[in-house]
Amino acid sequence: MSESDAGQVSLSAPKIPCPTVPTIRFEQEGQQVGCIEGANLRKAALDAGINPYKGLNNLNNCGGVGQCGTCVVEVVEGMQNLSPRSDVEQVYLADRPANYRLSCRTSVNGDVTVRTRPQGGVGKGSNSLVGALKSLIGK
Ligand code: FES
Repeated sequence: MSESDAGQVSLSAPKIPCPTVPTIRFEQEGQQVGCIEGANLRKAALDAGINPYKGLNNLNNCGGVGQCGTCVVEVVEGMQNLSPRSDVEQVYLADRPANYRLSCRTSVNGDVTVRTRPQGGVGKGSNSLVGALKSLIGK
């Protein structure tokens, strides 16, 4: 509250920066959702009714603890607004493009556009049965 020269009292709210709400655009579903900063990408998808899994992986996934490599998304835009690839992702996605992410290991810090269930996202390399066997025997 301040008093002007004319004796009028003016009420003015303190200037508080308005927080921005990150928006996740799910390209294939034609859907976009707002989320809190730092939101988990897999959980945000599920909360919006978007399925991050393909086929049998709906039954055969780890539930978001980074152990199955089946929740792959392709980042179309906004890679800089996501958490960096985790060590788990480096292993599971070693033979995938750099813009492929495990949604359960990814935090959203700003606007992003993703493609769920991308072609070749799951079922080869380190997140396939062959890949798992290779890593077990060290080849
Ligand atoms: S749900 Fe299993 S690694 Fe993401």
